Amino acid sequence: MTPLKLTFKHRQEIFPATDYPGDGPVLLLLHGFLEEQHMWNPLIPSFLAHGRVITLDLPGHGEAPNLGYQHSVEAMAEVVLSLLQHLGLHKVTLAGHSMGGYVALAFAERYPQKLQSLILLNSSPWPDSPERRASRERAIALVKRNREGYLRQAIPLLFAPESRAKCASAIQEAVQSAQKMNTQAIIAALYGMQMRPDRERVLRELSCPVLLVAAKKDPILEHEKLRQLAAETGVKWLSLPLGHMSHLEAPAELKEGLQPHLKALLEG
Ligand code: MLT
Repeated sequence: MTPLKLTFKHRQEIFPATDYPGDGPVLLLLHGFLEEQHMWNPLIPSFLAHGRVITLDLPGHGEAPNLGYQHSVEAMAEVVLSLLQHLGLHKVTLAGHSMGGYVALAFAERYPQKLQSLILLNSSPWPDSPERRASRERAIALVKRNREGYLRQAIPLLFAPESRAKCASAIQEAVQSAQKMNTQAIIAALYGMQMRPDRERVLRELSCPVLLVAAKKDPILEHEKLRQLAAETGVKWLSLPLGHMSHLEAPAELKEGLQPHLKALLEG
């Protein structure tokens, strides 16, 4: 069997005073679909004030090779476990953006004892609706015909409509970064997200602290339904007037919103 190639980074290079390896809390960051570990760069200095920060490229993204023709979120969660084992880490805070959050929840279901806390950034515990499943099929067909066209069409649609003009260069960079992905990797992730199960129960039953960060203008997630879930479960809740790509639309606003929660989440 080919050994798993883990492409991760300790992010202390941004802030060399951080004493890694040390005993401090660890924040492990999981990017979303069509992204790579560098997506977290603008937020990392503020995270480093609270612990060690590690980023990972999920299968088929960034520098990470494909695992096969379907990247289930459970298979991606096993890659997260392999990284923890490789680094000898027993407990971490996992933060996932969108697809990274689906992976974090799959990890939480299998290994709850390894979670210090969980942060879901513009993500959701629910599976694809029938309409979303059908739109994944159309996306797969388009990627096969015209990968570049798909990326140019799909990425801007993740931003709030009113952010798109202001974020033109961020959109351009996001498209360029996604262009590193091959056709098989994009399709494998689309299949993986399409077949993910409902994990609302996982979220409800988790005993560690959870922060849900949602964006009011997220074009693909249901802000109101997430707000109700947070209210019912009592998990921590942060709502921003942004789109699905809040880390690119308004990084300063996102950082400011996260700041009051980080100490409690990482340090317990
Ligand atoms: C992501 O940003 O990770 C994806 O757009 C999520 C999804 O398509 O469900």
